[in-house]
Amino acid sequence: MSSVMIIKNGRIVTAVDDYTADILIENERIKCIGENLEHGLDHEVIDATGMLVFPGGIDCHTHLENTFGDSTTADDFLSGTKAAAFGGTTTILDFAFQGKDVGVLQSIEDALKRAENKASVDYGFHMITRQINEQSLAEMKMAINDEGISSFKLFMAYPGKMMVDDADIFQALKLVGNCGGMISLHAENGIVIEQLIREALAQGHTSPRYHSLTRPSLLEGEATHRGICLAELAEAPVYFVHLSAMEALKQVVEARDRGIPVFAETCPHYLFFDESVYQGDSFEVAKYVMSPPLRSKEAQKDLWRALKFDDLQVVATDHCPYCMKEGHLGKINQKPLGKNDFSKIPNGAPGLQDRMTVVFDGGVKKGKLSINRFVELMSTNPAKIFGLFPRKGTIAVGSDADILIFDPNEKHILSSKNNYSNCDYSLFEGREVTGRVKKVILRGKKIVDNQEWLGNSRYGNFQKRGQFCGF
Ligand code: URP
Ligand code: ZN
Ligand code: ZN
Repeated sequence: MSSVMIIKNGRIVTAVDDYTADILIENERIKCIGENLEHGLDHEVIDATGMLVFPGGIDCHTHLENTFGDSTTADDFLSGTKAAAFGGTTTILDFAFQGKDVGVLQSIEDALKRAENKASVDYGFHMITRQINEQSLAEMKMAINDEGISSFKLFMAYPGKMMVDDADIFQALKLVGNCGGMISLHAENGIVIEQLIREALAQGHTSPRYHSLTRPSLLEGEATHRGICLAELAEAPVYFVHLSAMEALKQVVEARDRGIPVFAETCPHYLFFDESVYQGDSFEVAKYVMSPPLRSKEAQKDLWRALKFDDLQVVATDHCPYCMKEGHLGKINQKPLGKNDFSKIPNGAPGLQDRMTVVFDGGVKKGKLSINRFVELMSTNPAKIFGLFPRKGTIAVGSDADILIFDPNEKHILSSKNNYSNCDYSLFEGREVTGRVKKVILRGKKIVDNQEWLGNSRYGNFQKRGQFCGF
């Protein structure tokens, strides 16, 4: 492969630009952007006439080989990052998970091993912290300053498993905010949800739809409000993952209007599906068992509007795949674990490969998002919020040459059969979309070319992240 590449005549779209030019790439970075750039005979030339040229997608919420309780997600870094690449995503942020009585720094080591020689796209980790004490707070500071792990996810749900209490959240917010990092919150009132689950099971309600009925949107709203109060008191920024409910969105809007640095993501499943899937007692419904669950059609409209008007800043997948068939590709303890008890169904759904395409089709093509806003939500904002910008998240001189060449007009049909995830289903099965990933370039190397795989699992690099750059 030539170490110099030139992309000619593409329509370059960033969060703020939209123009036609050539991009010269050298030593993994963008060296020059301009009209009619000269190039040598030995340079690799890509003709992008008629194509959109985006910064590579950044999915800041994935779960690859993550273990929750007895269940491990069906994708590891090998399959998951290949799916990401085919979907136009060149960087993912996954999770380092603090085991019980395991130190923060040790847990980071464990996460790095999970990705070793298995990553086809660049990656970083948020840290899921389960114990907040003097030692873990000290190690969190080291993680930010020395390890490039500048964000931490705390759970307000799953008591006895992952939940931390409000005092823990407050302490973590103060420390991480002071160090320029970011606390992410899973905002659902876990204690009341557990009570609702107990009540449902006691009445013999065991089928998957009760997952939704026991996680009402009011309890997402309540936890979001509480999280914002704690962040405000700690004078720290805060980020809400997988926001789904109108009640939660209202809290975010109100806080942002008051100038509080509150940020939030939603996920493709909340934008394209709603609670009407939770009907009947069929186990098929387990496909939609994720937390929070799908919400009303009205909430879906509000989420789209919020993306457009900057009440929400990011679309991330929360790719957390579990197979519907036990034993698929040798994966055990998958969705059927909850065949007789909805509360035992592993929570989560796949989506990594489809994110860019479905949001382009449902957002840009359907007139709900401008093309610049699309780039901002899918790449630039996650880079800014999680300390990757301007190395990633834009097309600019000096930035990593992570580039997605995208045909805005090609129609195709999504299916798990053309998906590189190990998961045996896709929420988007059979959906016709307009817009297709054509070529994907990661730090100057073409890794996908018209459905052909040119990448390799040793090329993805761990990304040490810097501070949250306030915006
Ligand atoms: O259901 C979900 N979202 N599972 C993944 C873990 C999480 O809370 O993000
Ligand atoms: Zn969560
Ligand atoms: Zn998640």
